[in-house]
Amino acid sequence: MKVLVLNGPNLNRLGTREPSVYGSTSYSELVGRCEREGAALGLEVEVRQTNHEGELVEWLHEAADAGRPVVLNAGAWTHYSIAMRDAASQLAAPVLELHISNVHKRESFRQHSVLSDIVTGVIAGLGVDGYLLALRWMAEHGEY
Ligand code: DQA
Repeated sequence: MKVLVLNGPNLNRLGTREPSVYGSTSYSELVGRCEREGAALGLEVEVRQTNHEGELVEWLHEAADAGRPVVLNAGAWTHYSIAMRDAASQLAAPVLELHISNVHKRESFRQHSVLSDIVTGVIAGLGVDGYLLALRWMAEHGEY
């Protein structure tokens, strides 16, 4: 099974971006960790990141057409992008919303997600380890 791990704006800055909030793991280290975890779980994992909303929307269309499960850290788009919500709504396969930080103990504008009520589940606040947990869950439940 192939799983797409899709990351939205500013996540390419991991490691240097607000390390007290997002930790010191760089984006390339995160990609490596996801790929290794995927291989250990017998999954094909492809990790992508974009700073362009339309590109993420198109990746979600691709996942919908291919029937692929998605781990989605939409970054700030989580909080306001109806276009992204509409694209994610088209997936029949499981979608896990992921946040490195615990958005519920941060600013009030981060406490609302346009995704949470249409996704399969949400992981927040476990640092980059959340991605590995999401992949473990997908290995068990990603087929639908
Ligand atoms: C984030 C939380 C969002 O509020 C923020 O805009 C991000 C990252 C997280 O992983 O904790 O860019 O999704």
